[in-house]
Amino acid sequence: MHKISSINAIQVFDSRGVPTISCKVFLEDGTSASAMVPSGASTGSKEALELRDNDISYDGKSVMMAVNNINETLAPLVIGKDPNNQKEIDDLLISFDDTEDKSKVGANAILAVSLSVAHVAAKANKISLYEHFSRVYKDITDDHAVHSMPLPMFNILNGGEHADNNIDIQEFMIIPSGAKNFVEVMQWATEIYHNLKKILLKNSHATSVGDEGGFAPNLESNKEALKLIVDAIKETGLIPGKDVNIALDCAASEFFNGKEYVLSGENKKLTSSEFVDYLHDLTNDYPIVSIEDGMDENDTEGWRLLTEKLGSSCQLVGDDLFVTNKKILKDGISKEMANSILIKFNQVGSITETIETIYFANQNNFKSIISHRSGETEDTTIADLAVGLGIGQIKTGAPCRSDRVAKYNRLLWIEEESDNILLK
Ligand code: PGA
Ligand code: ZN
Repeated sequence: MHKISSINAIQVFDSRGVPTISCKVFLEDGTSASAMVPSGASTGSKEALELRDNDISYDGKSVMMAVNNINETLAPLVIGKDPNNQKEIDDLLISFDDTEDKSKVGANAILAVSLSVAHVAAKANKISLYEHFSRVYKDITDDHAVHSMPLPMFNILNGGEHADNNIDIQEFMIIPSGAKNFVEVMQWATEIYHNLKKILLKNSHATSVGDEGGFAPNLESNKEALKLIVDAIKETGLIPGKDVNIALDCAASEFFNGKEYVLSGENKKLTSSEFVDYLHDLTNDYPIVSIEDGMDENDTEGWRLLTEKLGSSCQLVGDDLFVTNKKILKDGISKEMANSILIKFNQVGSITETIETIYFANQNNFKSIISHRSGETEDTTIADLAVGLGIGQIKTGAPCRSDRVAKYNRLLWIEEESDNILLK
C-alpha cells in the first residue's frame, strides 16, 4: 500500500451555512480522497470539543484554527503512514492531543483526518467504503461484521432547537419497518412525506422545513404532530404500527430546567415522573417504537424510571446521554439507563473510538443507531458505516434537502450494486 504523502484541509460550509472542515489526504501514487465534518445544535455537554475560532468573523464560528492544526500539526504525524492502519493513525492523533475532550487540536480536526484516511484507504484498495469499514472493524475488535442495509428513521416533522416553531419535541420520525427493501423504504418515506405536506396545507399550516428537512409548523401539541403523521401514513395506504412505526427524539435536555420538563408549546411543567407518564401515554396512543433522549442527560433517576417503565417495550436511545463515548456508555449501562445508543462520530472525534463504542454496545446487547448531525454536508460516510458494520438502523433526516438525501441516495446505490446486502 502506498503511504500517505500529504494532507490538505480547508474551511467549507455546512447545511446551515456555518463553517466546517473538508480534509483531503493524498497517497504517494497520487490517489486522494476527502471527507467533511458535521456539526450539532442540540449538543450533549460531554461531547468532544468542536474547535471554533470565536473571533469577529463568521459570528465566531470559523474553524481556521482547526484547519491550521491539521495542515501544520497533524499532517506531519500522519505523513508516511499506511492508511490501512486506521487505529494506529487515530491513536497517534488522539495521543498527540492528549486531552479528555480533544480540546488541544479540536475533535473536528482529528475527525476530519480520521475520516479522510478511511476514504483514501478504501479508494486505494479499490473497494467500497463500507467494505473497508468492515475490515477496520475486524482489525479493531477482532469481531466479524455482517453487511446489511439499515432501516432509517426519517425525521419528517421538526421542533425544538432545529426549528422556529412551538413544538417542544425535537424530532418526529417514521420508520418504514415493513418495507421489503431499501427502494421500497424510500418510496414509502417520500410518499408519506408528501402526503404530510398536503395534510398540513389543507389545515392551513406552514410547510417550511427545519434543519433536518422535516416540516416545522406551529401546532397545538406534540399529540397533534403525531396525529398528522398517522394521517399521512394512512393517506399513503400504509398501516401505522405495522408497515410504518414512529420514533421520537425528545432532546429533553433542551427543555429541562434542572427541575422540570417545560413543554412551552403546551403550557406544561412536568416532573421527571410526570414526564415519564407523558411519554408512556404517547406510546399507548401512537405506534412509537423508539424514544431518544426521553430525559435530560443529567437526570439519572428520570432515565432509570423511563427505562424501568418503557424499556421492555420501546427502544430507549441515549444520544446526549452517552455522546458516543464508551466510558460514559459503560457508566450508563451500570446505572440501568436506556437500552440503545445513538452513534455520531463527531461526538467522540475519531473512527476508531466510534467503532470501539459500537462494539462495546454490541457486547452489552445495546442497539446502535448511526446518526447524522443537524448541521450536515454532502458527505455520505455514515451510510457506509451503517452498512459496513451491519448496524441495522440509521437516522439522517427527512427525505428532503440534499444534505439529508445524499445519504439515502448512497444507500440506494449500495443496494443496487450488491445482491446480498439486505435490510437487517
Ligand atoms: P444535533 O441533533 O445534531 O443538533 O445534536 C441531532 C440529534 O439530537 O439527534
Ligand atoms: Zn438526539
